Amino acid sequence: MAKVMKAPKRQLTYVTDLNKCIGCQTCTVACKNLWTTGPGQEYMYWRNVETSPGLGYPRNWQTKGGGYKDGEVQVGKLPPMIDYGIPFEFDYNGRLFEGKKGRVRPSPTPRSGPNWDEDQGDGDYPNNSYFYLPRMCNHCTKPACLEACPNDAIYKREEDGIVVIHLDKCKGTQACVQSCPYAKPYFNPLTNKSNKCIGCFPRIEKGVAPACVAQCVGRAMHVGFIDDTNSSVYKLVKQYKVALPLHPEFGTEPNVFYIPPVLGPKMELPDGTMSADPKIPLAQLEELFGKQVRDVMNILQAERMKKMEGKESELMDVLIGRRSADMMISPMT
Ligand code: SF4
Ligand code: SF4
Ligand code: SF4
Ligand code: F3S
Repeated sequence: MAKVMKAPKRQLTYVTDLNKCIGCQTCTVACKNLWTTGPGQEYMYWRNVETSPGLGYPRNWQTKGGGYKDGEVQVGKLPPMIDYGIPFEFDYNGRLFEGKKGRVRPSPTPRSGPNWDEDQGDGDYPNNSYFYLPRMCNHCTKPACLEACPNDAIYKREEDGIVVIHLDKCKGTQACVQSCPYAKPYFNPLTNKSNKCIGCFPRIEKGVAPACVAQCVGRAMHVGFIDDTNSSVYKLVKQYKVALPLHPEFGTEPNVFYIPPVLGPKMELPDGTMSADPKIPLAQLEELFGKQVRDVMNILQAERMKKMEGKESELMDVLIGRRSADMMISPMT
């Protein structure tokens, strides 16, 4: 039987505009430096930015299983460590001081990674394309991790809906790792506990934006409480309905949303004329964000057109986000 979960008073909500993310990994590093520098956490990236289409991090996470089916939480796979990538080193010492010949190459030779697929992209030149997909725990309304933990070590905070692991209660069972379809809890073999994104709640409590949001170079991220009708997250998710969850079919009801990427039209060869088809196939975006993506693309394109014609568009102004305070509204201003 499903666990009885008290609905939080408020829900902290994140939106990432995939049209503005430049894949700089500043958010990844901000989170890493702040929260996962301890022993056993080396491989953990609570925040990661992967190339889409691609295998992601951990490799093949999209097919690991978990989430819900017919209302029941599912037991997915535990990703093997190799799917998180192998740490490699460069032998600078040998080349600089020991006279070794040849190019400095990473060792052991890496064979995959979260951005491995971007040199090629999807499709054929000149219509190959890719975009960056930043990922973190979705602080779900129906967290499969919480539902699966046999030790009741995971809870959703009443004050902000952030999902956290109570480390004193965690016994290292890893059902959370198996059941989260986004592969966002990470097991630490040295402490025998799992760790995950804590939504930067110590910062939220002080009225400071999460590190990944505050440091975003592309100004691609919005954060706020979804019941705040003045917040950009409310406008994007509820009012204009242009922000969509990743893989809604997993059934966990994420509170991290995305503005899907609008790429230009395909170029027809050999004369270089533009085709009516978009460069990123709609089917590819539907796989990630569901069928609603079609309507969202129409709205985004129409609103873009308004701006190009010199007309007003509140939606575009929200997405442009000229003032940080408008993107990270109360209480993070
Ligand atoms: Fe739990 Fe995964 Fe949802 Fe985060 S994304 S709340 S770890 S089910
Ligand atoms: Fe990391 Fe904080 Fe962002 Fe979570 S909210 S991914 S803990 S920086
Ligand atoms: Fe994208 Fe912002 Fe992260 Fe850079 S910091 S990778 S722009 S989300
Ligand atoms: Fe529970 Fe996950 Fe710990 S299943 S016991 S929170 S490792």
